Amino acid sequence: MKHCNIVVLGSGGMLGWEVVESLKSSGLKACALDIPHIDITKRESARSVLSGVSSPGLLINCAAYTAVDKAESEPEAAFAVNRDGPANLADECERLGIPLIHISTDYVFNGKSDRPYKEEDAADPLNVYGRSKWDGEEAVRSRLARHIIVRTSWLYGSRGQNFVKTVLRLGREREELNVVSDQYGCPTWSCDLAGCLVRIAERVLSCPEEVPWGAYHFCGEGITTWYHFAFAILDEARRRESSRIARVSPVPSSSYATVAARPMYSALDCGKIRAGFGIAPPPWEKSLASLMDALSQGI
Ligand SMILES: NC(=O)c1ccc[n+]([C@@H]2O[C@H](COP(=O)([O-])OP(=O)(O)OC[C@H]3O[C@@H](n4cnc5c(N)ncnc54)[C@H](OP(=O)(O)O)[C@@H]3O)[C@@H](O)[C@H]2O)c1
Repeated sequence: MKHCNIVVLGSGGMLGWEVVESLKSSGLKACALDIPHIDITKRESARSVLSGVSSPGLLINCAAYTAVDKAESEPEAAFAVNRDGPANLADECERLGIPLIHISTDYVFNGKSDRPYKEEDAADPLNVYGRSKWDGEEAVRSRLARHIIVRTSWLYGSRGQNFVKTVLRLGREREELNVVSDQYGCPTWSCDLAGCLVRIAERVLSCPEEVPWGAYHFCGEGITTWYHFAFAILDEARRRESSRIARVSPVPSSSYATVAARPMYSALDCGKIRAGFGIAPPPWEKSLASLMDALSQGI
């Protein structure tokens, strides 16, 4: 039987990998799990794998169905992972008597706000992915009192497919990139979010009676557009590379059709996590520069 303080689900994904790395340097013992060793959509799979872990103190769920456009044509798969998966995990946490940290998204909002979204603002997802993530939140809330839900946005990192890596690749291949300039949000480095989750985990394990359970927002500080984000990525690349890098031009969303509708504005207000846990996200430009340093060193 494997002993660990924290079980991390979705450990092969962009965020899950980063959480496991952060836990290594924190001194906490992590048990890293992903499909095919565990399938969170299957209650028996979740139960038998978690029963094989000796007295875990906390579960962090980074497993998810994250293909936003594909979800429109395969909603059953999205709801199975993003709604039924967290429901199964919350039931298992209740049975084991341990808390759950679950990750959610800015896509639970409709993007019509004129100020950064607060945790208590009404959800109104525009697409299947957003609806499945909202149902996942509700499944956790209704089953397990001791939960933390962390909503994040525009996640990027050194692992997996994400906007930064796509822009870097296209920026080296093409002369010019067109990027939408009328959708606003907050880019978030997976490494910053992993650090935030480890700090919450440390508090949960050391003083569980003092944990302010509930939903929180965490994203990079500052609001930008995909166009300005792409501009900054290519600017950072130019500083580090001698090869030619593409120009980037702004285009409206109307000229860049996607299968799933996206919120036009999904900035998140991070005041609650600052007040409750003393966690302040770094400015997104600073985190982007840190990731670019890590990528250029092959990390
Ligand atoms: N990426 C973003 O821009 C973004 C923005 C806001 C919020 N979020 C949220 O942040 C969290 C982490 O996202 P991410 O980008 O790190 O996701 P990711 O890279 O897609 O990783 C998700 C992981 O979950 C695994 N998984 C899928 N189905 C599973 C199942 N049935 N049982 C067990 N594991 C399963 C995946 O395995 P396979 O790869 O083999 O499918 C993958 O390793 C998610 O909750 C996501 O909704 C992401």
